[in-house]
Amino acid sequence: MNTVLIGSQWGDEGKGKIIDVLTDRADVVVRYQGGSNAGHTVIAEGKKRVLRLVPSGILHEGKTCVIGNGVVMNPLDLIEEIETLRSTGVEAKGRLFISTRTQMVMLYHRAIDKAEEAARPEGKKIGTTGRGIGPAYAAKVSRSGLRCGDMLLPSFLDKVREQVEETNVRLRELGAREEDIAVPGCSVKGGVLDADEIVAVYAKAKERLSPYIIDTIPYLHDAKAAGKSILLEGAQGTMLDIDFGTYPFVTSSNPTSGGACIGSGLSPRDIDCVVGVVKAYTTRVGEGPFPTELFDDDGKTLAERGHEFGAVTGRPRRCGWYDAVVARYAQRVNGVDYWALTKLDVMDVFEKIRICTAYELDGKVIDYMPSSVDELARVKPVYEEMDGWMCETSNITRLEDLPPKARAYVDRLVELSGGKLGILSIGPARESTLRIAL
Ligand code: IMP
Repeated sequence: MNTVLIGSQWGDEGKGKIIDVLTDRADVVVRYQGGSNAGHTVIAEGKKRVLRLVPSGILHEGKTCVIGNGVVMNPLDLIEEIETLRSTGVEAKGRLFISTRTQMVMLYHRAIDKAEEAARPEGKKIGTTGRGIGPAYAAKVSRSGLRCGDMLLPSFLDKVREQVEETNVRLRELGAREEDIAVPGCSVKGGVLDADEIVAVYAKAKERLSPYIIDTIPYLHDAKAAGKSILLEGAQGTMLDIDFGTYPFVTSSNPTSGGACIGSGLSPRDIDCVVGVVKAYTTRVGEGPFPTELFDDDGKTLAERGHEFGAVTGRPRRCGWYDAVVARYAQRVNGVDYWALTKLDVMDVFEKIRICTAYELDGKVIDYMPSSVDELARVKPVYEEMDGWMCETSNITRLEDLPPKARAYVDRLVELSGGKLGILSIGPARESTLRIAL
């Protein structure tokens, strides 16, 4: 059984925890897109860990993990993550494999990301994580990117030097200020990057990471042929997808389930099940339209109770009611079989809860996601209201024990969104997870 797990909203749906829970039925866990812009928080045995690149399957003994070709991998972040895991007693060597086809995010991509974001006028800023994701994917598509397999070649460091020099030309064109391009690990002098220093950094990185780099296509297909189960984990979410999200306020990859095949080398025929992770309310980080966003005390309550601060950037997240138009759209484009509904307990204190069932666009009610952000920015949510249950749910261990009003809310979300309920999560720990159909 091979499963793809995706985010159904704007990321931060609580995927880390669900992946961690589903890993017990998987042998191999694959990350298929994004980079260290993601932060999957896993709390297990009282320890909290944030994983940005390494699939959280690494925390489970006996499982192997793959960083697929669709990822943009920052070697320095990965080394740091491997070290942190080691210091907490988890050894990645021999269990973590990086595809020779995986593109790399280099220090100079981070500098360009920051310089380009700084150069965008107000209103046009994307609010990127500054992790170099856009520039690394741009390099991939323009066929100038460096892949992990290149690290194993003698020409690698010469290519790095060439690319730093090309980046410096671009930084001069952008008129970047030093504070706009400062990135830890690389000095800026006269508004440009120091090529010698960067080459030295990657000479070390190459030594450290070479043992992890393999051709993961035969690895995954052999695992499949041997009857192993593969779990493919998406980062970010459907509404941040470069094709299906709120373009241009999106990330530069395909977090949707189609991206799982492109980003791993498995075929669509190899996928048996799609799990959509969806939060009992909605959040968004960064810029761009967000129809159900709340600016009142209810929004503050969601942010506080849900601890809605970015795992990577620490930025506060924008919060709003559940948007069933978003969820229905995610169900369609990903083919969601089962929902993993998370953070229901955050809703415990609301007397009345609203659900957005449709949008009103220029006086007309629509039930689909507009393709243009200008239209999405103009829609008004059409709400229905339900009674809250006003009691704590996080100690509940069986679906039958949910307060009837909480159960009614869950059932209504699933009814409006399509698909079936697979998992209900009512607290941050691994233990606060009701497994209904998965
Ligand atoms: P980038 O991925 O750093 O280029 O940022 C593009 C957009 O995606 C910004 O709005 C980010 O806030 C958003 N984004 C990127 N990664 C995540 C994530 O893991 N969770 C939520 N939003 C994200």
